[in-house]
Amino acid sequence: MSHISQPHAQRVTIPMLQRWKAEGRRMVMTTAYDTVSARIADPVVDILLVGDSVGNVCLGFENTLSVSVEMMNHHVEAVARTKPRALLVADMPFLSFHISVADTIRNAGGFLQRGAAAVKLEGGARRIEMLKALVDSEIPVMGHLGLTPQSVNVIGGFKVQGRTASEALRLLDDAQTLQEVGCFALVLEGIPAELAARVTDSLTIPTIGIGAGVGCSGQVLVFHDVLGLTDEPRPKFVRTYVEGVDTLRDALLRWAADVRSGAFPGAQESYRLPGDLADAIANWAPLNSK
Ligand code: KIV
Repeated sequence: MSHISQPHAQRVTIPMLQRWKAEGRRMVMTTAYDTVSARIADPVVDILLVGDSVGNVCLGFENTLSVSVEMMNHHVEAVARTKPRALLVADMPFLSFHISVADTIRNAGGFLQRGAAAVKLEGGARRIEMLKALVDSEIPVMGHLGLTPQSVNVIGGFKVQGRTASEALRLLDDAQTLQEVGCFALVLEGIPAELAARVTDSLTIPTIGIGAGVGCSGQVLVFHDVLGLTDEPRPKFVRTYVEGVDTLRDALLRWAADVRSGAFPGAQESYRLPGDLADAIANWAPLNSK
């Protein structure tokens, strides 16, 4: 029996997300970096994010700062080739929306031309010029506030944000600004649950939380965290539903043991010659031995 609960049958659109927020229907988002993860997740979730977390999750970088537009293009194209029904959002990597408006629009527009339906970018009011330019260029934008991983050097580590009055009030103001500028949704990462719930109530656009409590309009977790596909220590906010590394490694161990014992491949995994050809090759001898 399938455990898929209420996937949305049609292609998910931004107006649908706005409606779901008004109806109180919770939204589900996960990351996909390639066709395998996209095909597994697409029948289940509402939003697929080609996150710049690909840098630390799949490419071996320490954080997301080394991820380039070229790398993101490669992963966006792979996921887009699966033609997902979930809304496909591409993450704007570090330095792709900091240099100039023209550069920002070119980078974001490139993701849309490769099949994304929207982009996500980190930061609040400080990014207002770029956000406005994107919205004016018909590029849908998801904002991202709180613990923004591209600010790791400024924050001094991956620390929960919004725990002082000034930080909490600035976050509430930033969320309002991002809604006013035209963001269609916000990711709220690594902030106290009460603050995320207050932000969510103050907005008409949906909030998607990660480490931000249950009061958001939806939740996002990294695909590899949900499925236990990393050996790294997992943050407190992650819930892992299968220990994928153990399960998959166990399967590989069984295959390797079969190879080593000669139990693999068996008759069912082998091709056979027609009978007369089998006789012909049995009677074959090298030319110089005749
Ligand atoms: O890159 C990413 O995976 C993200 C999500 C965790 C929100 O930004």
